[in-house]
Amino acid sequence: MTRYTSTDDVQEENLQREYMEKAAVYVSALKEELGRTPRGCVVTFGCQMNARDSEKLSGILIKIGYELTESEEEADLVLYNTCTVRDNANQRVYGRLGYLNSLKKKNPHMRILLCGCMMQEPAVIEKIRKSYRFVDLIFGTHNIFKFAQLLVTMYENQEMIVDIWQETDQIVEQLPVNRKYSYKSGINIMFGCNNFCSYCIVPYVRGRERSRDPKEILREIERLVEDGVVEIMLLGQNVNSYGKNLEHPITFAALLREVEKIEGLKRIRFMTSHPKDLSDELIEVMRDSKKICRHLHLPVQAGSDRILKAMNRRYTKEQYLALVEKIRTAIPDIAITTDIIVGFPGETLADVEETIDVVRKVQYDNAFTFIYSKRTGTPAAAMEEQVPEAVVREGFDKLLKVVQDTARERAALLQGKVMEALVEEVNEQDASLMTGRLSNNMLVHFPADVSMLGRLVRVSLDTCHGFYYTGHIVD
Ligand code: 5AD
Ligand code: SF4
Repeated sequence: MTRYTSTDDVQEENLQREYMEKAAVYVSALKEELGRTPRGCVVTFGCQMNARDSEKLSGILIKIGYELTESEEEADLVLYNTCTVRDNANQRVYGRLGYLNSLKKKNPHMRILLCGCMMQEPAVIEKIRKSYRFVDLIFGTHNIFKFAQLLVTMYENQEMIVDIWQETDQIVEQLPVNRKYSYKSGINIMFGCNNFCSYCIVPYVRGRERSRDPKEILREIERLVEDGVVEIMLLGQNVNSYGKNLEHPITFAALLREVEKIEGLKRIRFMTSHPKDLSDELIEVMRDSKKICRHLHLPVQAGSDRILKAMNRRYTKEQYLALVEKIRTAIPDIAITTDIIVGFPGETLADVEETIDVVRKVQYDNAFTFIYSKRTGTPAAAMEEQVPEAVVREGFDKLLKVVQDTARERAALLQGKVMEALVEEVNEQDASLMTGRLSNNMLVHFPADVSMLGRLVRVSLDTCHGFYYTGHIVD
């Protein structure tokens, strides 16, 4: 699909700005009635893409006159930005909705809104219509740029508004954004996914792959840097296939080269890489870069060739290991992390042993391990041989132990080194410490104060605590 910012998108942007003004009138009437500024609470479930969407949604809420709160109890508007990649995320949303209903009974002004991946599933909408009738507005992943307009429709109507699109090719730039961190930001470079791994619901709820115009991406990063951002994370379900469908195709590696040139930008991260599309050009760009962080998230999902085939991952264990070898040879200090699923239909304990073998060979710095969750509508959901829970549990526990041991061993290798950290936040347990993130994504806690936030400092890694360090600034 060819994608460039079209006049349609610009018109849409202007239209949404008009709706923001209209919505602001309703919010100001509400303010008068309440005798205070109305409060909005946006709760994010799921991945970095959702986190970025939530920043856009919060940006619009602020623009029309809400102040943000983290407390659902204090809020006059609660928006859940949902995830559906595994069923437990869905169950959490249903559970919390029941609680929101009790809050709404106490606060008649309260509005309850739902959006995100879970809302793209017809069965979910049916259930909410039937059993959660107190919800005011539901929209999906394709029309979040219409949020202001949807809010106006909600204010003008009493009944539940549901607006779900199956697809869109629109990418509306330059709407307000409320960034969570002043010094770092996510940037969408593409939307959707074309891979159709057989367990995964993402291609069904996020639609086909669409890349943003590189010029728009670079312009957005430049603006962020002017605004004080030093680290960015380029976001996409499969960044390695970025740009393939643009009118003037460009590779992800070429985009990175351009991003690297932006003055004032200090660190570049990206997420997520599909092993089958990771090019030699990308490895070269990473090796030569001063700004790309020494971290690669490279989901393996499984180690058995039979399971990888059934998952439609389109690589074998040997190909994956060879790729890791190539990356490690080019960039020896790189941290590699992964995602693993246990309990895919037909997976035996012998298959899990293959996965464990990959973990031992790759020596991951961290691995996110998930129990397979059956997602209706995906090919895997229709497969026979769903694995009994006890077998899944046994394989999962065994794998987790190896993952943790390996990660600990990797972390210990950094003992005593001095490395650069971005100061990210005040330590949660001890306010005399700040928490920083190393280029390899590891956390380190050290004495410093809040004035250091967003600064890059050199830290000595004094004591390893399993997966993180405590240390001190050496500058
Ligand atoms: N069950 C369990 N884990 C899943 N993931 C995606 N779909 C499923 C599923 N149906 C995991 C994959 C992916 C990560 C984001 O979520 O490991 O990389
Ligand atoms: Fe899902 Fe596979 Fe696409 Fe990742 S690459 S979002 S696992 S279909």
